[in-house]
Amino acid sequence: MTERHLVLVGLMGTGKTTVGLRCAELLDRPFLDTDELVVASAGIPFDDIWAAEGEQGFRSRERVAVADATASPTPLVISCGGGTVLDAENRRALRARGVVVLLTASSAALASRLADDDSRPLLIGADKTATLERLSALRQPAYEAAAHFEVDTEQRSVDDVAAAVVEEYRSWNG
Ligand code: S3P
Repeated sequence: MTERHLVLVGLMGTGKTTVGLRCAELLDRPFLDTDELVVASAGIPFDDIWAAEGEQGFRSRERVAVADATASPTPLVISCGGGTVLDAENRRALRARGVVVLLTASSAALASRLADDDSRPLLIGADKTATLERLSALRQPAYEAAAHFEVDTEQRSVDDVAAAVVEEYRSWNG
C-alpha cells in the first residue's frame, strides 16, 4: 500500500514549515509548502497575488495547490498555509491521502514568534495577539475536523516537536 503524506496544519507561527522540513529529513522524503506551490504556479510573488486577486483569489490557487500536492504518488511532507483547512474539499483531500497533524501554541507565543514578521497579510497593521486569538477561535472547528492528531509546540525545540510528529505519524501510517 502507498504510504500516506505527512500533512502539517495550524495557525501562522506554529512552525509548520520549520518542523515540516525537519520531518522530511527524518523520513527522507520531499517537502512541499502550499504557499510556495501557489507562488511557483502563479509565477508572481505572494504579495502580488494577494494584492491583485485578494484573499479569494489566493484561496482558489491554494485549492489547486492542495489537489496537486495530495495527488503526488510519492509520499511527501506537506506544510499547509494556516487557512488551507477552512475549505472542506481541502480537508477531505488532505485526510484522504495523508495523516494530518495540527501544530498548536498559545496566541501569545505565536505573536511573539511573529513579532518581526511582516509577510502575513492577515496580520499587517493588526494587534497580533488579538488577531491570532480571534483566528484561533474561528478556525478551531476546522482544525479539529482536519487533524488526526495534535502536537503542542510551545517551549519545545524544533527537533523535539519533529520527533514527536514523526513518531505519532508512523503509528497512523501503519
Ligand atoms: C494564512 C497563512 C499563511 C499564508 C497566508 C494566509 C492564513 O501561511 O497562507 O498568509 O490564512 O492563516 P502560514 O500559515 O504558513 O504563515
